[in-house]
Amino acid sequence: MDRGFLFGDGVYEVFPVYNGLILGLESHLKRLQEGLDTINIVNPYDKKGWISIINELISYHQESNKQAIYLQISRGCDDDRKHTHGKLKPTVYMQSSPFKSPTKDDLLKGSDAITRDDIRWSQCDTKATSLLANIMFAQEAKNHGVEEVILIRNGIVTECSSSNLFLVKNNCIYTHPKGPYILPGITREMIIDCAKYYDIEIKEITFNKDSLMDADEVWISSSTREVVPITRIDNSPINNGKVGETWSLIYDRYQAIKSINA
Ligand code: PDD
Repeated sequence: MDRGFLFGDGVYEVFPVYNGLILGLESHLKRLQEGLDTINIVNPYDKKGWISIINELISYHQESNKQAIYLQISRGCDDDRKHTHGKLKPTVYMQSSPFKSPTKDDLLKGSDAITRDDIRWSQCDTKATSLLANIMFAQEAKNHGVEEVILIRNGIVTECSSSNLFLVKNNCIYTHPKGPYILPGITREMIIDCAKYYDIEIKEITFNKDSLMDADEVWISSSTREVVPITRIDNSPINNGKVGETWSLIYDRYQAIKSINA
């Protein structure tokens, strides 16, 4: 009778863990709190409580130097399957899975993506467990043997099935602004910091598919994929299919931050 199971009534987080240390802990906990506030679930733990539980789970998996901690909070169990609910005790579910990151040499080979209409709801900034559209897109990517599905809403490139998107044109980086149409990725925020570190101009503004196809570079980002260059979209090469130098700089800086901050 858990509403997470019955309705996808919950929020989640994915924390990347490197050598036992969580990268971006504060930002992930902040986004979790915002999601809980949005859907009116009282946070079952305070910051200290979360840190202690997450670290306990991490400690059971010390053999993996990279762990993705998945944390889901659902509204809890009810005694009837009604759309509405009363006051319930939230259910907390956590798991740790090892994850691998491709090497830089692998990433330099480039990756493919396809585009699709972004048919998701208009509250994509909530990290909700109800992910039907996202998983259908992700499965389509898998069936096509490509890395990601890039989503386009009313002509505007938003993000991807489970990652944010960046493009580079004439030494300036562009990414969709925060708001209801994208998940405010923690990796996205770290990439913005990396760009600032190098004094590379970065604009959080919208762009269309023509700009995407005409970009010098396209990348996607997420906590488990880090930052991946996309070199072909809908079977057309981006900038002759070459991985760009800006990606390489950002990738190196991200690796450095990972080892400092995690
Ligand atoms: N997904 N956009 C969407 C739709 C996502 O699902 C994700 C992450 C991101 C990137 O967010 P972050 O940088 O905070 O990981 C953007 C996670 C990894 C998942 O669902 O497994």
